[in-house]
Amino acid sequence: MTHAPNSLAARDIAYLVHPYTNLRVHEKQGPLVITKGKGVWVEDDDGKQYLEGLAGLWCTALGFDNKRLVDAAKRQMETMPYSHQFAHRSTMPVIELGEKLLSMTPDSLTKAWFLNSGSEAIDTAIKLIWYYNNAKDRPEKKKIISRRRAYHGITLAGGHLTALEYARKGFDLPMAERFLTVTPPTWYREGMEGETEEQFTDRLAKELEDLILEHGPDTVAAFFAEPVQGAGGVIVPPDSYFPKIIPVLKKYDVLFVADEVICGFCRTGQMFGSQTYGIQPDLMTVAKQLSSAYLPIAGLLMSDEFYQTLADRSAELGTIGMGYTYGGHPVAAAVALETLKIYEEEDTLGHVQAMAPHFMQRLKAMEEHPLVGEARGVGLIGAVEIVKDKATREQFPAASKASVTVANACQPHGLILRGLPFDAVGICPPLVINEAEIDQLFDRLWSGLDDAMDKLTAAA
Ligand SMILES: Cc1ncc(COP(=O)(O)O)c(C=O)c1O
Repeated sequence: MTHAPNSLAARDIAYLVHPYTNLRVHEKQGPLVITKGKGVWVEDDDGKQYLEGLAGLWCTALGFDNKRLVDAAKRQMETMPYSHQFAHRSTMPVIELGEKLLSMTPDSLTKAWFLNSGSEAIDTAIKLIWYYNNAKDRPEKKKIISRRRAYHGITLAGGHLTALEYARKGFDLPMAERFLTVTPPTWYREGMEGETEEQFTDRLAKELEDLILEHGPDTVAAFFAEPVQGAGGVIVPPDSYFPKIIPVLKKYDVLFVADEVICGFCRTGQMFGSQTYGIQPDLMTVAKQLSSAYLPIAGLLMSDEFYQTLADRSAELGTIGMGYTYGGHPVAAAVALETLKIYEEEDTLGHVQAMAPHFMQRLKAMEEHPLVGEARGVGLIGAVEIVKDKATREQFPAASKASVTVANACQPHGLILRGLPFDAVGICPPLVINEAEIDQLFDRLWSGLDDAMDKLTAAA
């Protein structure tokens, strides 16, 4: 095996960047280096094969060798590799992508704007919400609510919404007074002794209303929510959760921003998580599966009313000072457009709906393992939550990094998963996974859990 001269340094640096980075695996120094892929499988630089059980970072929906996406990029590169979105310009891939995307999203959304990453879409949404409320002469209406354990990216503004310790600790985030949090809808962890699921969601709706009233409805601008919270541990909300939250937001004129960066594009068993949970958002962010991650692109979708308010205000103020050199890059847009065509022509949604029952049945069966306190999921996304004691739900000491230990133990078995905070191991395979591969995924997870058990119980 050969490496570029400075590759060791690069590997050491990779250790530092994320506490949940999978650490040393199969006796190697440094990160797992992936060199190629096919379908749901990837291969490392030693030729070992892995089932990519997290679709990269919840994103390679169409697997790792989709030729149509490669050809779409090549065609666009050869035709017109770059033009921009500034000064009333656009490109055909962006226009067609916008039209196609809006034909799939909830009816409340009528305008699309393309950016480069999920974090950029979130930051842009925050700035535009502030601009919007200034335009409406509501200068105090600026506070934004997210849920604890939310992940909405890592940039300066979005980093305030991401309510995970590792994203906040040590960064001196400077705008804390504009960002509020409420309880995430995990009945398993947040439900009180003797509380039914219905009582739990009643309590969460009341908590939200109380918070808005405490701060004053004229100060609260928006509520950001992933339909299923992904990176915070795959929190699948009870069915009654959003139907109780939405009226509270409407009552106090608080915008609903659906962060569909993970949930978008068939993941939860409908085209969008918003459709799974009956949400008609005012704004929506998409990324990741928008292009099956073959090139970086994100979208910010908005309602007519929101867009028109911005447009009218910018007519008064002059140029709206938002935009990015690579936002809506034509090659990325062409790949995203091809991705959406593939979802439609190959009936990816039908495939997900056909696979989901088997996925859920194998996932739920993981609860028979002594380490698994809860196995939860919807569509083709799920998690197993690791516990020390199933009856009391007691967790292993934080220092054991239970979820990372399990994910690492899966790797020698040829399975890549992700150890998440709160001891959840995330499962989110490419959408093209078939039934036999789902079986392999869960068989290997079981073996990984067995191997992790000795380590975790010895350390506890
Ligand atoms: C729900 C959600 N929103 C936003 C983001 C940020 O996206 P990006 O990493 O592309 O900046 C992520 C990334 O995982 C995400 O899961």
